[in-house]
Amino acid sequence: MRKKIIAANWKMNMTVAETVSYLENFRSHVDEVNGVEIVIAPPFTAIAKLSEILGGSQKIRLGAQNMYFEMSGAFTGEISPAMLRELFVRYVILGHSERRQVFGETDALINKKVLVALPSGLRPILCVGETLEERDAGREKDVLETQLRGSLAGVTPAQMNDVVIAYEPVWAIGTGRNATPEQAQDAHAHVRAVLAELTDASTAAKVRIQYGGSVKPANAATLLSQPDIDGALVGGASLEPLAFSEIVKAAVEK
Ligand code: 13P
Repeated sequence: MRKKIIAANWKMNMTVAETVSYLENFRSHVDEVNGVEIVIAPPFTAIAKLSEILGGSQKIRLGAQNMYFEMSGAFTGEISPAMLRELFVRYVILGHSERRQVFGETDALINKKVLVALPSGLRPILCVGETLEERDAGREKDVLETQLRGSLAGVTPAQMNDVVIAYEPVWAIGTGRNATPEQAQDAHAHVRAVLAELTDASTAAKVRIQYGGSVKPANAATLLSQPDIDGALVGGASLEPLAFSEIVKAAVEK
């Protein structure tokens, strides 16, 4: 009942020219794929070109990697929800651990972004996840709960239908060390339980929860076959059109 959602987070990679050739290649691999929602989140500079190439495609949706919570004004270097909507961006990644760690984003700031994204017609892909230190201390569930409660404060049950959660354990990002399917499932079930407390059980049952952290063609199918894993947020492997298409295919009928 939850349609799988496989998203590419290109991070600070890919020029406009590289985006054009990637898309041509990637599309040829996923032509026959149905029943999976694909999202590509390029850097801001490639969004306009990608939007033009996709032309409102139902199969491949456009995402952004971040945004600011004001619509316009004196915020040097920032991009607004209105600017993203003008280019038909559908999803926005919020609270990625790199934003939290490198740029000091807090749950309170991420919450402001979530609360502005939703009425603007942007679906947040809200990232949560513990560090290795937090996991070793047995605190991962508390950390997830704090991040979810803080980032989703004030989100109504109706709005939750448009939110995607990405569980990305920080220790698994770009390290080649993915969470085991059991570890990931355990965390996802916990995320869903917290969402049920924040809203209600039937709303929580509909929210899609992606796993992110060293997802590759070789480990995608087992991760995606876990009952509460509804997709993947892919960094490194999404830069390779063939590898990303294989991850998308691993999501078909899982
Ligand atoms: P990797 O797939 O490179 O580990 O990155 C995961 C990630 O951070 C996606 O947002």
